[in-house]
Amino acid sequence: MSVTANTRAMLRDRAAAVLHGNDAGSWTKASPVLYPHQWSWDSAFIAIGWAHLDVQRAMTELEQLFAAQWATGMVPHLVFRAGPDHPYFPGPEWWDTSASPAAPAPPVKTTGICQPPVHALALQRIWQLTPEARQPEIRSRIQVLYPRMVNWHRYLATHRDPEASGLVTTFHPWEGTDNSPRWDRALERITVAKPGPYTRVDTSEVPDPSQRPTNWDYDRFLWLVEQLRKYRYDDAQIYREYPFLIKDVFFSAILIAANAALLDLADVAGAGDDDREQLTRWLDRGRAGLASRFDTQTGLCIDYDVRAGEDIRLRTFAGFAPLFARSADSGQRAAQLRLLDSEDFCGHPRLRWRLLPSASPAESGFQPHDYWRGPVWPVINWLLWEALNMLGCSARADEIRSDSLSQIAAGGIGEYFEPFTGKQLGSPQQSWTAAVTLDWTASDHGGEPS
Ligand code: SER
Repeated sequence: MSVTANTRAMLRDRAAAVLHGNDAGSWTKASPVLYPHQWSWDSAFIAIGWAHLDVQRAMTELEQLFAAQWATGMVPHLVFRAGPDHPYFPGPEWWDTSASPAAPAPPVKTTGICQPPVHALALQRIWQLTPEARQPEIRSRIQVLYPRMVNWHRYLATHRDPEASGLVTTFHPWEGTDNSPRWDRALERITVAKPGPYTRVDTSEVPDPSQRPTNWDYDRFLWLVEQLRKYRYDDAQIYREYPFLIKDVFFSAILIAANAALLDLADVAGAGDDDREQLTRWLDRGRAGLASRFDTQTGLCIDYDVRAGEDIRLRTFAGFAPLFARSADSGQRAAQLRLLDSEDFCGHPRLRWRLLPSASPAESGFQPHDYWRGPVWPVINWLLWEALNMLGCSARADEIRSDSLSQIAAGGIGEYFEPFTGKQLGSPQQSWTAAVTLDWTASDHGGEPS
């Protein structure tokens, strides 16, 4: 059922209040307690939200994040911006990125890994929403940021893809979907994970610790960071010696969509021929790489464990990478759309709404409360909604938008949701959920007048 105009207006106000509440001036906390710093892909979604309220503030969000870009071009997954009164673990001491000559100079403190490059999608939305009177200013700010974004994509296309396969290699579960069952086998192989002594703070900041990764996961997450630090965050050495290297089809799909977004902005940014040709080559290579990971038997795209030399055949949201990339050929698209609404995913009879869960309820690692092992994440459904619209599947896209807004109206502006009950899980007042709510409520598609 569609949400009414009154509900949309109420959600818009609530979402704007969450962004204002988490606003630290020039950057936005990912959430008030659990995530008190600036996260990379959160920030990109947040900029999409700000674009509906204030395009200048939206630009500032991205500019602040890119101010912490590494000399390699990497945009770090987290910039430590809140003071010591805001506990978060692991903090800058655990990461100690001063070990790397590529890390930004003090006082900027970051982690040494990255997250999916949603930033160009945010820049595209900012430009789409820029009122005419603001265009000269925003255009000149885009012209400054654009080369930095090309450099970020260059890092992913080179340091993170030395094979030139078109697929991005991720180094850590925190590079996107923390405790997804996609990483289980690779983490199980790590039998030596005894990191130095540590105390978690995250489990006491959610209503129930079972909504967060386990201590077994954290031992491995933290031990992996110790290895990265030991290699001084040197990508070439990590590639040679480090145990966790995954060709991540979801991350790769977002890079494809992001390269297309940068090409779309090339005129606005005044990009030269070199950049345009480079972006086109990355785009073609990415599409070919993703196509090579499509499994015609299951209709899903499959990740690849580089270190073990094995396919990761699981039913998770990531298998829809060809849709997220917005470039699926018609055969793949038809197969993926059938699968999307099958009982393995959105057509599962127990789902409260026909939204894409992070893992299929039919998958053995599925857990409906636990972070990336089953709950519904609004930002993932936003990426799917946007992709389906761009692929011409606007009726299904409208349903995703409408069901997502119903879920948020019933459950709150939460981090993730229990797929069978719709209960809000994780952190309340999550900025990126507020941001996509603002984008959805501003959209002209669907809905009923009140
Ligand atoms: N998502 C991780 C956390 O929960 C790190 O980015 O803290």
